[in-house]
Amino acid sequence: MFKDFLWWTLGILALVVLGIRIIELLWAKLRLVSAMSVPGDRQGFWKVSQWSWMPTLKRRLIYAPLWKKRHYREIRLSKALNMGTLPSRLHTIILLGYLGSNLAYTFIVNWATLNKYQLCAEIRGRSGTLALVNMVPLIIFAGRNNPLIGMLKISFDTYNLLHRWMGRIVVIETLIHVIVWSIVQVADGGWASVQEKIMNDRFIGSGTVGTFAMVILLVLSVSPLRHAFYETFLTTHIILAFIAFVGTWLHCVATNIAGGLPQLPWIYAIMSIWFAERLARMIRLAYCNWSGRGHSQAFVEAMPGETCRVKIQLPRYVDVKPGQHAYIRFSGVHSWENHPFSIAWVEHTYEEILPVSEKDMTKVEQPISTSVSFVIGAQTGFTRSLYNAANNNDTRSISMRAAFEGPYAGHHSLDSYGHVVLFAGATGITHQISYLKHLIEGYTAGIVATRRITLVWIIRDYESLEWVRPWMDKILRLPGRRDLLQVKLFVTRPKSAREVFSTSSTVQMFPGRPNIPHLLTKEVQEQMGAMCVTVCGPGGLADDVRDAVRKVQDQRQVVDLHCEAFTW
Ligand SMILES: Cc1cc2nc3c(=O)[nH]c(=O)nc-3n(C[C@H](O)[C@H](O)[C@H](O)COP(=O)(O)OP(=O)(O)OC[C@H]3O[C@@H](n4cnc5c(N)ncnc54)[C@H](O)[C@@H]3O)c2cc1C
Ligand SMILES: NC(=O)c1ccc[n+]([C@@H]2O[C@H](COP(=O)([O-])OP(=O)(O)OC[C@H]3O[C@@H](n4cnc5c(N)ncnc54)[C@H](OP(=O)(O)O)[C@@H]3O)[C@@H](O)[C@H]2O)c1
Repeated sequence: MFKDFLWWTLGILALVVLGIRIIELLWAKLRLVSAMSVPGDRQGFWKVSQWSWMPTLKRRLIYAPLWKKRHYREIRLSKALNMGTLPSRLHTIILLGYLGSNLAYTFIVNWATLNKYQLCAEIRGRSGTLALVNMVPLIIFAGRNNPLIGMLKISFDTYNLLHRWMGRIVVIETLIHVIVWSIVQVADGGWASVQEKIMNDRFIGSGTVGTFAMVILLVLSVSPLRHAFYETFLTTHIILAFIAFVGTWLHCVATNIAGGLPQLPWIYAIMSIWFAERLARMIRLAYCNWSGRGHSQAFVEAMPGETCRVKIQLPRYVDVKPGQHAYIRFSGVHSWENHPFSIAWVEHTYEEILPVSEKDMTKVEQPISTSVSFVIGAQTGFTRSLYNAANNNDTRSISMRAAFEGPYAGHHSLDSYGHVVLFAGATGITHQISYLKHLIEGYTAGIVATRRITLVWIIRDYESLEWVRPWMDKILRLPGRRDLLQVKLFVTRPKSAREVFSTSSTVQMFPGRPNIPHLLTKEVQEQMGAMCVTVCGPGGLADDVRDAVRKVQDQRQVVDLHCEAFTW
């Protein structure tokens, strides 16, 4: 019964989110259709919140950090000791609710029972079963090909948070399972019998191996270790998870019950989901990077500010939407690693195909291949080696074979918003720039509601503009761009005052960091239709933008927030 409760808890949670998402999608569609042919100042209906309680809900719950402001800014005890981030208020409520329900389902037993061993047996069965039930979502949430990301429009980042907490719950339940078993076993035959069972009984031995793997996995996953040695963490995590699954599987098989424990099908499901996810990655890799036209080739240029601009020519056409990212790897630079990067720019190559019908003799253009571009800031590992590989060449560039796995995410459409404010910190521009071309072209074609876009890009020095210059030049020359795009560049550490100078009224430059609350209040005063504020960049910037968005909710206008950030 409690196992079914847990399934229902998860199922109902997913159904509630799905219901909310369907309403949101329908509402956004309605807004898009009704506003896409209307000027910005006539989108008044969409500008004001139709439900008086919605802004308060957003400020106090949906966009709220756990406490005052901190959410994405990492807690660092020193440069090397990264303690991770704090979950948001909504995430905390969901996690506490889930933790509480698991505790209740494990410990709601008849405590008045006089026989304490009977109690132990009851808790042993409960905790073991619940641990296995939780392993199913645990493994689904870990996958980047998790179909629930697109269906429920919940980011991989949120699933990753849930994965971490589910993992902790599974290990705790497994330990409870082992402890209550030991209590009865010690009472029956002493510690010697516990040792004897572990060594000679396949049922207990396999369970013990699985439990050990899980405990080591938990210890090695603590935030400072995870962040400091991410690649080592990832490899050991996968190996230990595999040992834990095999141990659990043998534990379910090696029992006296004919056909194995009733939980056996779940462990089959868990292993199948895992293999299916790995297979999906391989299929994506093979599809994107090999075709009759050859394989993917990358051109990497070292840029100012220890950054690389990377262009990967894919041998086939791949459809990429704004806001998507991909995992990329290079032959010769930590070839075994793959890292996620936002796809900043996409270009397709077309081929003319001859008419197929005698009635219509016009030639048709068909996309045959795609190039995807990235801007990659050098950190200390793979990205640093990539930068060094390009920078150490005379030409400050290098060509090499590469592999592209994606595109992922990008389920956040801005098309139905009359007013869009994009904040980018340094390389965070990659995520934002992908929306610019799409929205400006959509405006000219009359298929989006967007009438005003403000891009706020914060960079350390003037030279960082070089990262995106070719793409920005194209964007600034798009027809209709002057009608809607305002660019505000903030150069926080300019080398001289002359650097921070622009004669254009639509591309302005300022020294220092922006005053985000002031900037956003001004945008809200001039708001056109519904507004969406998005941010991509350092955690501190995301937290400041979140705080400013929460503050403007008092105006009762529709101001939505989307943070593109990732917390490991
Ligand atoms: C969806 C997404 C899009 C991103 N887009 C860009 C982008 O366009 N440009 C850009 O410069 N950076 C981007 N990043 C960040 C980039 O993935 C990391 O900086 C990079 O993986 C660090 O590699 P490294 O080995 O040099 O890291 P290290 O120097 O070893 O570590 C630096 C930091 O990156 C984290 N990190 C290491 N490996 C990964 C990984 N595989 N995935 C995520 N974080 C990791 C570490 O925990 C640490 O906090 C993006 C991250 C995500 C999640
Ligand atoms: N899709 C994605 O998830 C994605 C895509 C691309 C990049 N990223 C992430 O974006 C981050 C880029 O960070 P970085 O380390 O390259 O940036 P950074 O160098 O730390 O900062 C970039 C700029 O932002 C300014 N800044 C920092 N915090 C601010 C705040 N609270 N308010 C206003 N300005 C602020 C800095 O000003 P000062 O000079 O005053 O410090 C600096 O000019 C990386 O962590 C990368 O992983 C994520």
